[in-house]
Amino acid sequence: MAHPDNDTTGRGTGDDIRRFRVVVLNGPNLNMLGRREPGIYGSTTLPEIEARLRELGSTLDPPLDVETFQSNHEGALVDAIQGRGGSADGIVLNGGALTHYSIALRDALTAVNRPTIEVHLSNIHAREEFRHQSMTAPVATGIIAGLGPLGYEMALRFLSAHLGREDTR
Ligand code: DQA
Repeated sequence: MAHPDNDTTGRGTGDDIRRFRVVVLNGPNLNMLGRREPGIYGSTTLPEIEARLRELGSTLDPPLDVETFQSNHEGALVDAIQGRGGSADGIVLNGGALTHYSIALRDALTAVNRPTIEVHLSNIHAREEFRHQSMTAPVATGIIAGLGPLGYEMALRFLSAHLGREDTR
């Protein structure tokens, strides 16, 4: 470990690099990724996506400790937003079909008031009309749709940059 006096990075010696915690939440049917409509959602499974996100988080600057959670139940997701989300620095949420009608998810996001990126694997605006509306998008920091699993990665990259910037203010 470099002595502080020899540190040329300007970011300290490693012990004092600020790490941020981000929770990645996935809603109903996203546990079926890889088997579910692969023409729309691709062949990558959720555990594969989650492992990649944990790995990516640790390489970002500032690094993110990535926690993941999936549920098919609206109440469990509300609990996760209130609990894990409320104590995290940022949230990535793919609410699945709940996106389109869950006022409860939206209220939970508003209550915890964390930087939140809404992610959809598919381009919801190019699909059926009922998918064009998102209850949660108006209270999200931003949304990413149609980029497949890469969308989650972009969300983490944004949150790292955003949280790092906020921290220096
Ligand atoms: C989805 C899009 C939703 O409309 C759908 O109900 C999902 C997945 C997506 O990631 O593209 O379950 O959120």
